[in-house]
Amino acid sequence: MVNQDCYILAVETSCDETSAAVVKNGNEVLSNLIASQIETHKVFGGVVPEVASRKHVESITLMLEEAIEQAGISLEKLSAIAVTEGPGLVGALLVGIMAAKSLAFAIDKPLIGTHHIAGHIYANRLVQEISYPCIALVVSGGHTELVLMEREGSFVRIGQTRDDAVGEAYDKVARALGFPYPGGPHVDKLAMESQEVEELPRAWLEPDSYDFSFSGLKSAVLNAVNQHRMRGEEGFEPGIARGFQESVIEVLVEKAIRAVKSTDAVQLLLCGGVAANRGLRSALTERCEREGISLLIPPFSYCTDNAAMIGAAAYLKWKQGEFSGLELKAEPSLSLESWSVAAK
Ligand code: KG4
Ligand code: ZN
Repeated sequence: MVNQDCYILAVETSCDETSAAVVKNGNEVLSNLIASQIETHKVFGGVVPEVASRKHVESITLMLEEAIEQAGISLEKLSAIAVTEGPGLVGALLVGIMAAKSLAFAIDKPLIGTHHIAGHIYANRLVQEISYPCIALVVSGGHTELVLMEREGSFVRIGQTRDDAVGEAYDKVARALGFPYPGGPHVDKLAMESQEVEELPRAWLEPDSYDFSFSGLKSAVLNAVNQHRMRGEEGFEPGIARGFQESVIEVLVEKAIRAVKSTDAVQLLLCGGVAANRGLRSALTERCEREGISLLIPPFSYCTDNAAMIGAAAYLKWKQGEFSGLELKAEPSLSLESWSVAAK
């Protein structure tokens, strides 16, 4: 099976992006279409699950057709259909799963239920080979984790957020500063342009802990904003954005570097929507250069949710012949460890 080319049609509908892609051999993207629902959810200030499901239903069939057409491949040539089975919003996941199952059944191809975070991590393989053992720093709207990967497809979570995910904290801070959803890119831009920096706390937790906490920082930002407003001050937003971004980056970078040094890791991978953060990308790049650590960061287009990353992760299961049955269910809190690929 591994000697022939593998073409995976991948589907991602875990949150507010409907995406379909065709990926060859786990690293060559033949097509990657993304229909974002951001404009729809913006008016509500966040993702409304019911609305997300309905939007996925409206666009999924067209996305699948387009992904196949743009890849210039026939359905018969596909090796498997992959779909995000979790974690994510249950109703949103279900839309992708039903579409993938129906197609897999109709054209008699294997189905591969795929973990969303494994997808974010393997987005890195769309640009470069990964070396093992490695550490992945996963920073997205729903997750903030440090993952140790001893070998390809094996995942051990060594740290995670105890409260807000980093993207969630960005979105809440952005809202307090008056930006629309999703606010991460706005805070990033303001922070990068700011000459001022307002000092904000860092949550290091226990000295040996790889866990994170961002709710204290978020509350400190909200307090600072209120105080400025009560005093009738203006123009404080850039300083807060930069202070917040510096606090987040310092903790993420320190913990990730410590995780690499205290394991046998030969590489650090950054991934997830917040990996698009310019401040984080440059701070991590600079620190890894100084420490002589090999760092992989996906290009911006593969940081936020997309189906190509799901095709990249599903390839690991395809190589081992680990397929899902048609009874595949949406798993809103699917664990990453449990999705690990069996050792060869
Ligand atoms: O991975 P993703 O697309 O969705 C989840 O799986 O959660 O991540 C979306 C998150 C949002 O919270 C968004 O604000 C954040 O990534 N984000 C950023 C930036 N671009 C996207 N956060 C900080 N700086 C950015 N440039
Ligand atoms: Zn994601």
